[in-house]
Parts: sequence; C-alpha cells; structure tokens
Amino acid sequence: MDKSAVNPMNTKPALAVTLLVVSLLAACAARDTPRPIVVQGAMDVEIQKLARVIEHATEEHVGGWTFWRGTIDGYPVVISKTLKGMENAAAATALAAERYHPIAIINQGTAGGHQPDLHVYDIVLGTDAVNLGSFKTGNRALGDGSNVTEWNPLDLMRSEGSAGNDPSARVMRRFHGDAALLAAARSIRGTYTKGRVVDGVIGSSDVWNSELDRIQHFHDAFGTSAEEMEAAAVAQIASLFHVPFLGIRVLSNNITNGETYNTKTGEACQDYVYDVVKAYVRGLQR
Ligand code: 5AD
Repeated sequence: MDKSAVNPMNTKPALAVTLLVVSLLAACAARDTPRPIVVQGAMDVEIQKLARVIEHATEEHVGGWTFWRGTIDGYPVVISKTLKGMENAAAATALAAERYHPIAIINQGTAGGHQPDLHVYDIVLGTDAVNLGSFKTGNRALGDGSNVTEWNPLDLMRSEGSAGNDPSARVMRRFHGDAALLAAARSIRGTYTKGRVVDGVIGSSDVWNSELDRIQHFHDAFGTSAEEMEAAAVAQIASLFHVPFLGIRVLSNNITNGETYNTKTGEACQDYVYDVVKAYVRGLQR
C-alpha cells in the first residue's frame, strides 16, 4: 500500500493549492460582481412595489428585517424594509452595509411637509438630512413649560465627551446627499408628472410633529422642507461605513397647508426611485 496516500502530512500541499485556487476564484468572482445599490423603505406601502418589480428576486430575513436581492436592468440591487423609526432604520443600514457591501444607499418613502408651498405628491431630494431629535433644551423651572426655540442642536458625532457640555457640539450636523446620486435623481426630474421634484432638507426623528410653531421653527432654523423618521439615521450609519447616501421623500401629508395623508404617494415615490436607480447605474457604466 502506498503510505503517502494516507499520510496527512502529504495532503497539506494539495490542500493549500486547493484553498489558493478557491480563494483566487472567489476574488475574481467578487471583482466581477458589481456592488449592489440598497434601496430602503420603512413600510409595506413604501417598499413592496420595488420588491415586486425587481428581476430575479430572492427574499432574506435577518432578525425582524426583510431584504430582497435582485436586479434592475441587470444591475444588482437590495431592497430593504427597514421598519419605521430611527433605530430600526439605523440597524437595517448597518446590516445591509455588512452583508451586501453596497455601492450606494437610497432611503425613500413618505414624509410630511414643513412649508406650505410643497404639496402632497411633491418629491424632495435630500441635499441634506438632519436629526430633529437631537437637542439640548433650555433650562426651565418646574411649571415653566417648554419652548422649542431655546433648544440647541446636539451633534452626537462631534465629541468624545458629553455632547451636552461641549459647546462645539451644539451645531446641527448635516448629512449631505451624495453628489452622483443627487445628479441621477435630478436628471429624471422632468419625467415626474404627479407633482414637483425639488431639492430640500429632510428632517428626521421618532416624533411626528403636529405643532405648527415647532415645524415653523425647524424650517426657519434648519431649513427643513419635510420630516419623516428614518433618513438622518440612515445617513449617519452610511457615513460611518463610507457608503454614498441619498434620501428621496414624497409628501404624503402637509399640516402647514392642511393637506391630509394620502397613502398612495408611497407608490409614486417607488416608481420615481426605480428610475433614479436606472439613471445612477447608467452613470456608473459610463
Ligand atoms: N412626520 C413623521 N413621519 C412621517 N412619515 C410620513 N409623514 C410623516 C410625518 N408628517 C413617515 C415616517 C415613518 C412613518 C410614520 O411615515 O418616515 O416611517
């Protein structure tokens, strides 16, 4: 019997060569597979249409989150249902960044207007996203109530120490929309027939604001055009992973001019974002 056939020492070089070949093949495959574009939405009315229309969709579940992998015009995309709110959206973004290594992240869905000249079905392209839940309030005694105009914004990314005690942290952090994503989103503006498509600042927090004075203050102080509950959280996590980000939001309601909630707007935003993805991919291929 040929002892070398069973000698574990002699299997080592063969194993090493096999591993090398496998890792080289994997590296080549990874190089040839483009990194996907992640498109997020919080609720079914904001994401199910995209999940339905992508090609070759496969569904994955991680914890409470759902991801659909597929393609748009042959380019890989991951459609992500983030669930509602800052925490859920942030976690969904971290999961997507780690699992799919996206080339870009688009957070899209519905929003409430912060200025009366914007109407339900208008779309806001987020030149910036700001966190409307991160403040240090004024000092007020028991019984003195609350006044939003005294609130100082807190940039929680700015200092290692207590942000509340660091005067340099009392600025509103602006998460800028990525230039190439913005260019793609603007390039198809003329195709949208349900309303206007405007540049604007998206304000996010876990609060649905229905106090007109507060909304006016946020609009005046931070330039917000619309509010919702995810974009700034996603932008913050995307920036920590160095992934280009853009928020795209359709107005589903606007308390500043009395326009009430229209759930169908979520579909219009998905249709628009579908075309934004196509335009962005065309830009990548150029
Ligand atoms: N204020 C806050 N969130 C809103 N949304 C739509 N309109 C508003 C609004 N006026 C979105 C949020 C969240 C869900 C409640 O709908 O992003 O996902």
